[in-house]
Amino acid sequence: MEQLICLGIESTADNLGVGVARSDGTILANSISTHVPEEGGIHPREAARHHAEQMGNVIAEAMETAGIQKEGIDVIGFSQGPGLGPCLRTGATAARALASYLEVPLVGVNHCVAHIEIGRLTTGALDPLTLYVSGGNTMVTGFEAGRYRVFGETLDIAVGNCLDTFAREAGLEYPGGPAVEKMALDGATLIPLPYVVKGMDLSFSGLLTAASQELRDGSRRLEDICFSIQEVAYGMLGEVTERALAHTGKRELLLTGGVGANRRLRSVISSIADEHGASAKFVPIQYATDNGAMIAWTGMIAHLRGVRTPIEASHIDSRWRLDEVEVPWRD
Ligand code: ATP
Ligand code: FE2
Repeated sequence: MEQLICLGIESTADNLGVGVARSDGTILANSISTHVPEEGGIHPREAARHHAEQMGNVIAEAMETAGIQKEGIDVIGFSQGPGLGPCLRTGATAARALASYLEVPLVGVNHCVAHIEIGRLTTGALDPLTLYVSGGNTMVTGFEAGRYRVFGETLDIAVGNCLDTFAREAGLEYPGGPAVEKMALDGATLIPLPYVVKGMDLSFSGLLTAASQELRDGSRRLEDICFSIQEVAYGMLGEVTERALAHTGKRELLLTGGVGANRRLRSVISSIADEHGASAKFVPIQYATDNGAMIAWTGMIAHLRGVRTPIEASHIDSRWRLDEVEVPWRD
């Protein structure tokens, strides 16, 4: 069978990613350029300017790595949401221009769906329960009756955001997750911090406030605070994930998103999978954090099932929910 090629553009936040995927599931390129803010967190407009400036370079690099010319591109995929408006708009503009210049179809991809699909492709998981944890997202999801259902999610900030903000206040390097993880290795005392699970949903803002308060009080070792944040945050995630696993009876448990790099969280996920006779799957880090390959691959499989996004329907949706997306390529 003749293979098709999709070029995908990811630009939901501070990463600009361009990936190239072939219809047989081969990832031919996964180029990335990250906007590093001079200080503080992400500035949407500055990140968008970075993406606009780097767009040409990153596309050229991905095409060179993939060994393709513009004639070899059959489909253009782009992240249509959710994410930061200015960043999404920059990616969408480039995608529309490319698709109309090359006269190929355009496919708008949901960023959260893409995290799951690249996870399935790269780990071989068929029908996993997925815990997706990053700087902007925290959710437990699984496929049921035509869609990815959200079984539990954060009611306020994402777990990665909690770690990053705390680390910044503590004067630790950015990104905060790995810095907190390193510190936690030398922690031993569990400080009581708010553990907030409401039904199947989670809240991390109280944890952040209380941990920051401990920091200002100055009577606790930073190592102990970091250790405690990890125990509480990953305990909360574990509780909700375990209940969703028991409820759905899925046989695979997929961990993805940048926070999925964490060793402590991985061990929590492994034990839950073991106890329920499921297999734990960890997405390789270059495909777990925001990347273009996941948009290219999801654009490809959607395209093969006839999904098209005409230019007039290609406006971005910064709040596009995972469970609103139709998933005709499953079942
Ligand atoms: P999204 O757009 O999906 O929300 P993102 O822009 O936050 O993604 P990712 O690269 O998926 O990007 O995730 C980054 C997050 O992962 C940051 O919050 C970072 O602190 C966290 N992180 C990275 N490594 C670790 C680690 N070892 N332990 C905990 N958190 C980590
Ligand atoms: Fe992401």
